[in-house]
Amino acid sequence: MQARLLTTAPEKAEADALILPIFEGQSKLPPEAVALDKKLKGAITQLLADREFRGKFMELVPVHNLNTLPSKWTVLVGVGKPDDLDMVRLRNALQAAGRVLRKRGHRRVTVILPKAVAAMASASDMARAVTEGIGLSNFDVGSLKTRHEHAVTQISALGIVGLDGDKAASAAVKDAVVLADATNRIRGWVNAPANTFTPTVFVEKVKEAVQGTGLDLKVLDVDDMRRLKMGALLAVARGSDEPAKMIVIRYNASNARIALKRGSRGPAGPVLALVGKGITFDSGGISIKPAQNMEMMKSDMGGGAAVVGAMLAIAALEPKINVIGVVPTTENMPSGHAIKPGDVVTGSGGKTIEIINTDAEGRLILSDGITYAVKEGATHIVDIATLTGSIMRTLGPVAIGAFGNDPTLMDLVRRAADLAGERVWELPTWADYDGLIDSDIADIKNSTVPWAGATTAALFLREFVEGRPWVHLDIAGSAWQDTSELKTVPRGPTGSGVRVMAQLARLLGES
Ligand code: BES
Ligand code: MN
Ligand code: ZN
Repeated sequence: MQARLLTTAPEKAEADALILPIFEGQSKLPPEAVALDKKLKGAITQLLADREFRGKFMELVPVHNLNTLPSKWTVLVGVGKPDDLDMVRLRNALQAAGRVLRKRGHRRVTVILPKAVAAMASASDMARAVTEGIGLSNFDVGSLKTRHEHAVTQISALGIVGLDGDKAASAAVKDAVVLADATNRIRGWVNAPANTFTPTVFVEKVKEAVQGTGLDLKVLDVDDMRRLKMGALLAVARGSDEPAKMIVIRYNASNARIALKRGSRGPAGPVLALVGKGITFDSGGISIKPAQNMEMMKSDMGGGAAVVGAMLAIAALEPKINVIGVVPTTENMPSGHAIKPGDVVTGSGGKTIEIINTDAEGRLILSDGITYAVKEGATHIVDIATLTGSIMRTLGPVAIGAFGNDPTLMDLVRRAADLAGERVWELPTWADYDGLIDSDIADIKNSTVPWAGATTAALFLREFVEGRPWVHLDIAGSAWQDTSELKTVPRGPTGSGVRVMAQLARLLGES
């Protein structure tokens, strides 16, 4: 998708369709749309006056432009009450609008921002939200349907009218296109069935994706894992016939074009590690899951995919920091070779781990990923995973759960989430929880009491970060959204975390 800020008058904008966001409870036409409405013989005024369009959140009413404008339709989009509108919700409303326009076959859309809406945030924040909202509408779950009508039409050109076209806002539009494209790319991977997306295929997809980006890719195979004594990752992989892999992607700021302009950070600068869970299918293993909803477990590599998406975006955005992306990937399957409850394994960091529940496999593979990142010189660690049913029950698909050991890094993650327009909510790792993962036979165990499950998983991961500032993002709820009751991003994989991590790399590079 291409996108840019326009200074054209709304009624002169060339597009297949115009999108006009309107607040709830506004009975008058926004002044910016008066000339447009005149051409439409007052149709919008009438709809508002008769309360046939109320501006309720995600309400959509298409109005035909009667061939009086260079655009064919004006789509009114409700953005709800002003007090409730933030940049997350604006993205959601525009993503919904974008989807409807695509289904009608429109490719070129222009968003008209009335002053009242534009004033809700800075021009840059608005530009980002509008561009990402529309950009993220370019995704479908039905990619394997043999008759797939909607996949063909993508929104290819976006114009935004009503923002001061300053440099920062224009730059924000460009960045937002990169972020939306990277997110959509990995949403397709998360959506892919596990029979077509094995660890080996994951590696192939990453190889293709990093071509020409300047990113450096290394793939560890099972022999490498044995040499590095990655006993936790290998333990999970044992039950599967598909060979495990570990994907390692490096972004080197001093190789980036920007380094020549601004001066690079030497080897003493921070190294951000992004570690993502890449379980291509989670059956639970010997602690097998119930059949109900097990098909969802094809998306258990959402964290790993998000790391790759973030690395792709980072390669284009060129933050001033070295970043290493680490994605341990395997299936979690039951078999005669599979690990059993009660088994004890030794991870690459040397800690012994008692496996209480083979379905708590994500933390096992992440532990070896984190240890690898530490050994590779990571100074800051962010891990991301579809890790616990507990976080899904707590936050639903609405927000990412965050846990950490360092308030400064957590603050940066929160700022990154604001820029990204993704909701991140911190949950505790207080010392009060200490002891939950103590094992009788080994150093730690991978599962414990039936409560505080997301915190327990975080405590387990914290054992491996060697005191580095660390944030754990649990996206088990936010990675997939198909709750028809909610007015949020509709159906399927969301690409949760891609934008947060890419924005974090930027902030950390500037701090
Ligand atoms: N992949 C699951 C977590 C999950 C659940 C992701 C629902 C997406 C939707 C994870 O590997 C898992 O099975 N977690 C268990 C851990 C438990 C056995 C300690 C859980 O949360 O129930
Ligand atoms: Mn599991
Ligand atoms: Zn899992």
